[in-house]
Amino acid sequence: ETRMALKITVIGTGYLGATHAAAMAELGFEVLGLDVVPEKIELLSSGRVPMYEPGLEELLARHVAGIEGSSGRLRFTTSWEEVGAFGDVHFVCVNTPQKHGEYACDMSYVDAAFASLAKVVREGALVVGKSTVPVGSAERLADVLPEGVELAWNPEFLREGFAVNDTLHPDRIVVGVRGERAEKTLREVYAGPVGEGSPFVVTDFPTAELVKTSANSFLATKISFINAMAEVCEAAGGDVAKLAEAIGHDDRIGAKFLRAGIGFGGGCLPKDIRAFMARAGELGADQALTFLREIDSINMRRRGQMVEMAREALGGSTFLGRRVAVLGATFKPDSDDVRDSPALNVAGQIHLQGGQVTVYDPKGMDNARRLFPTLGYADSALEAVRGADVVLHLTEWREFRELDPAALAEVAASRVILDGRNALDAERWRAAGWTYRAMGRPRA
Ligand code: UGA
Repeated sequence: ETRMALKITVIGTGYLGATHAAAMAELGFEVLGLDVVPEKIELLSSGRVPMYEPGLEELLARHVAGIEGSSGRLRFTTSWEEVGAFGDVHFVCVNTPQKHGEYACDMSYVDAAFASLAKVVREGALVVGKSTVPVGSAERLADVLPEGVELAWNPEFLREGFAVNDTLHPDRIVVGVRGERAEKTLREVYAGPVGEGSPFVVTDFPTAELVKTSANSFLATKISFINAMAEVCEAAGGDVAKLAEAIGHDDRIGAKFLRAGIGFGGGCLPKDIRAFMARAGELGADQALTFLREIDSINMRRRGQMVEMAREALGGSTFLGRRVAVLGATFKPDSDDVRDSPALNVAGQIHLQGGQVTVYDPKGMDNARRLFPTLGYADSALEAVRGADVVLHLTEWREFRELDPAALAEVAASRVILDGRNALDAERWRAAGWTYRAMGRPRA
């Protein structure tokens, strides 16, 4: 068993940090993870994670010290002193959420982490920022660190639901550096993935920060583009799913991220495009990003259009007293994350208009209940659909694709399903007697 010489710390143990820490241990490094929330540290130290992420607990179990049969390379702490004494390389992975009532992102967690780290970091150590930050942050944060401590910016591109694989086998590794020493150290850290073919792109600070926000802006644009085409298809009687398939065959366009539906949500895409607009404004470059305002509004409009589709399916006027089953609460499948979830937003709008909404989600129930305690919840898709006047499919979990439409037809009050993700097999549902409608596609 190889033990790598560099000692690594990971500051902040959310989706990003917990996955990064486990991945670094998998690559052979000794790793110390820090979080300021003691409950998280307790949980992680026993090999469990405070969220649902496929494969992550298995990876932790392979490395967390004290777990039988583990490598023992991964430990967790709440002590900054320990982190400072331990680390040759410190990865800062704290989150940068949208500020309340503003487009800009909240840098207070990043600022606090750098301030604490600056007090304990050893001379000669390297600090690596991974959090998504407004361009210009790295330059400012470099000044917070003591003399003799270098900074690098190394944005992360992992997707929730695929976090472990994306971290161990990244599409690319981007490092913003000022000096050769930082580059050399990071080449050592990432020698494993680079050896397996991951491109290693070296840039300056602002470019590294911009790669991250521009990548997410591009992805958001792709989704809103296909959703705009869905609106046109609805007006013209076209089929956006066929359209996406056909344009996707062009390599220059590509088939991925062209699924039309109720749009994007989550803790990243929506807040990243807004923070990008806010930052461009500060830099006097706001005109360059005015199109992102349109990307955002196309996206938000989809949620309202789903509500209107449901209203129409119920006869057109009111939701009062009508029972609406909602399949899906998370912002995407294989995650328990409900941050800015289009599914819950649609459910909440219908609830506020007097509909009796019952939600079911395979993994997101606890988080959904916490966020929307007044919605109705069921323990299974079948129970959610029981007595429903209309069924809304809003997060494309595999479990929903594998449902038996005939069994659900038995318990529903009315056999109407609206597919907000264009992910169900229309023919199967129609064969079982359902009226199936999807966004941007003709009615059968
Ligand atoms: C996104 C990026 O994909 C990652 O590369 C990035 O690292 C991450 O943000 C981040 O900044 O941390 P994630 O938020 O996990 O990852 O989710 P995505 O898979 O990008 O999906 C975002 C939303 O777009 C979901 O609500 C999904 O349902 C929606 N979507 C995606 C569509 O509506 N249509 C599509 O074709 C694809």
